Amino acid sequence: MAELKHYEIAVIGAGPGGYAAAFRAADLGKQVLLIDRDNELGGVCLNRGCIPSKALLHISKVMSEAEHLSKMGVTYGKPAIDIDQVRAHKNKIVSQLNGGIAQMAKARKVDTIQGLAAFKSNSELNIETEDGHISISFDKCIIAAGSTSAMIPGVPNDHPSILTSRTALDLVDIPEKLLVIGGGVIGLELGQVYAAFGSRVSVVEFLPTLLPGTDPDLVRPLQRKLKNQFESILVSSKVISVEANDDGTVTVAIENDKGIKRESFNKVLVSVGRKPNSNFLNLDSTEIEMNDFGFINVDVYQRTSIKNIFAIGDIAGNPMLAHKATHEGKVAAEVASGHPAAFDARAIPSVVYTDPEVAWAGLTEIEAKEKNISYESGDFPWAASGKALAIGANRGKTKILFDPETKQVLGVGIVGPGAGDLISEGMLAIEMGADAEDIGLTIHPHPSLSETLAAAAEMFSGTITDLYIPKKKRH
Ligand code: NAI
Repeated sequence: MAELKHYEIAVIGAGPGGYAAAFRAADLGKQVLLIDRDNELGGVCLNRGCIPSKALLHISKVMSEAEHLSKMGVTYGKPAIDIDQVRAHKNKIVSQLNGGIAQMAKARKVDTIQGLAAFKSNSELNIETEDGHISISFDKCIIAAGSTSAMIPGVPNDHPSILTSRTALDLVDIPEKLLVIGGGVIGLELGQVYAAFGSRVSVVEFLPTLLPGTDPDLVRPLQRKLKNQFESILVSSKVISVEANDDGTVTVAIENDKGIKRESFNKVLVSVGRKPNSNFLNLDSTEIEMNDFGFINVDVYQRTSIKNIFAIGDIAGNPMLAHKATHEGKVAAEVASGHPAAFDARAIPSVVYTDPEVAWAGLTEIEAKEKNISYESGDFPWAASGKALAIGANRGKTKILFDPETKQVLGVGIVGPGAGDLISEGMLAIEMGADAEDIGLTIHPHPSLSETLAAAAEMFSGTITDLYIPKKKRH
């Protein structure tokens, strides 16, 4: 028999957006239900995405650094990889974190339920659980149902040799030959992990560059490294067919301006983007509006076209990033709890956690050129940084784009180890409306990689002393 329970706020999805929304609403005194179809809380990011991939990327980075030490006079033998132990290590980190979320939910008296939620109306949900259906009603609902890997039409999606980021992170084995379809963020991060563990990795990217949309000067040092780590990198190339063979291998036909090439691989990772999970929610029973790509339309308060229903995170549009979801989740929870809040961030940082890391925030040069936005840049090559040289990161770079009139920071791009942490100073500069002097005159510790931000500002203002710039170029 269906029971009808009422909640002030129901949150669908317990990823970094959903649990942040649920916890913030509970902290504001609301009675909250957090629903997830998975048994574990934390969503894709924690269980099958950001966190496990970072655990593996850490291992591959240390392996690469240990190898690099031979150039500094210290040589290790060939690494021995116990894949079961690596997997167990990664799983331990994940379970430690999702155990923490479950504990925090309990401490806040947030009810959690495992089940697939779908709308019955603008104020009711049906939840399909292992023990049958449950109906609940709500005053407010926050949809944080996330996204799923997109597949290529015609490619079998249930074959054990055809991986998505989810199954690739299961780390069942290390294939001898791995093809990565899609040279975006997932493809390069996981490609690098598998290459470190011994796979011969090839990447095929449809567009002319890896990480399309990222400034080419930031991609170049990464691409240089990947050229050594990967067997091949094919850009401007299209996968036209993927066929599973009886022996478990997969034959892929790749087309580019040189013609069509067929090659067999032990496994294929499909990383060609993600699509919003709006199709599970029975949105037809509500008046929630979506765009043509299946993203739910929201306003700056994260409200959908129905005033009491909010949407946040991947399902509410690009960029599909955990930190954007968390921020939006808090906005939705505050608005839903009757507090003044709105999404008014000036920028959202992007980080590719490869080795070297690539990070950017705010305006990029590609975007500035596309939109005819005038800017001037201060570029500081890490080859002039003592710290970068000491850690073997001389190919890194920090650049800051400034408004030529106000000298305020419009955007920041960094490539090199730790770029994903260093970008936070750029984010703060953008949010605070800092200008070149604010950054250049802030005393940064020496020697450090963070100095490269001050140095980039000084390159722009002409006050740099760690490099020589001819007088006429100084401001
Ligand atoms: P993506 O959009 O970053 O990259 C997909 C790539 O596949 C693109 O370069 C695209 O041109 C290419 N592509 C599409 N169809 C193709 C085809 N048929 N053949 C060859 N190439 C093709 O998507 P990805 O890497 O799957 O990641 C999905 C999302 O997950 C990202 O947009 C990101 O928001 C999020 N994510 C973020 C991470 C981070 O912040 N470090 C890590 C992992 C995922």
